[in-house]
Amino acid sequence: MGKPRILILGGTTEARQLAESLAADRRYDAAISLAGRTADPRPQPLPTRIGGFGGAEGLAVFLELEKISLLVDATHPFAARISHNAAIAAAATGTPLFALRRAAWEVQPGDNWTRVASVAEAVSALGAAPRRVFLAIGRQEAFHFEKAPQHSYIVRSVDPVTPPLNLPNATAVLAHGPFAEADELELLRQQAIDVVVAKNSGGTATYGKIVAARMLGLEVVMVERHKPADVASVSTCDAALERIHQWLSPVKDRGV
Ligand SMILES: NC(=O)c1ccc[n+]([C@@H]2O[C@H](COP(=O)([O-])OP(=O)(O)OC[C@H]3O[C@@H](n4cnc5c(N)ncnc54)[C@H](OP(=O)(O)O)[C@@H]3O)[C@@H](O)[C@H]2O)c1
Repeated sequence: MGKPRILILGGTTEARQLAESLAADRRYDAAISLAGRTADPRPQPLPTRIGGFGGAEGLAVFLELEKISLLVDATHPFAARISHNAAIAAAATGTPLFALRRAAWEVQPGDNWTRVASVAEAVSALGAAPRRVFLAIGRQEAFHFEKAPQHSYIVRSVDPVTPPLNLPNATAVLAHGPFAEADELELLRQQAIDVVVAKNSGGTATYGKIVAARMLGLEVVMVERHKPADVASVSTCDAALERIHQWLSPVKDRGV
């Protein structure tokens, strides 16, 4: 009988951490899957496959063909489609699945959050009157704000927004985290920002802007997550490892 085969759906810091731990553990035969969004991804500590599976059906075929014993969904809290597909494919093939997902941020005293369900809703939440907006939601959904050209935007993303935003007052800031609280405070002050738009990603790397907004008494329009609610999840790499050990020893034999 071979070793249990684990597939990590990755694209996050947590997925990389888990991959590092599993690479050092000879009991398992683990691999990681990436969407292939990054042009020049850092090498991973595990065998890596890159690119979509072809929907839930394609993923189900992959799980069967590769005789995957356990699927770990460690994708980003805002990567909703792949998590949905993982839940369907795991159920269809009887593959155990759990999610490794950092906890969402919770409102703290002094926070002034307007919670919204989507980026499109965040646009409306800004209101009709012109404001100075710090847009820190990544580049993929920034285009929604073209519907609100009355505002001025500081748009921060790792890679440039393409095509460029059709907005009269938008300044691009290219940077990647982690972002220090003091730098975020400085940015918000310097740019005279009066509202921050953020996704509730959780974790520490991008939390500085939330703290800075609190310190300045600014509103944060917070886009909440939409991940499958019925998939068991853990929020740390250690908890994920514990779960893996629990589930796979003794090995659940699926013919591997
Ligand atoms: N959304 C964010 O804010 C964000 C931030 C940081 C990192 N990421 C990472 O970037 C990747 C793409 O994010 P997204 O929001 O575009 O995802 P998504 O909308 O949930 O997924 C779109 C499609 O990309 C493919 N895909 C996504 N993750 C994959 C993976 N780990 N391995 C293989 N295929 C994958 C799947 O294609 P098929 O249907 O063909 O299988 C999926 O249907 C994810 O891996 C995520 O962890 C996302």
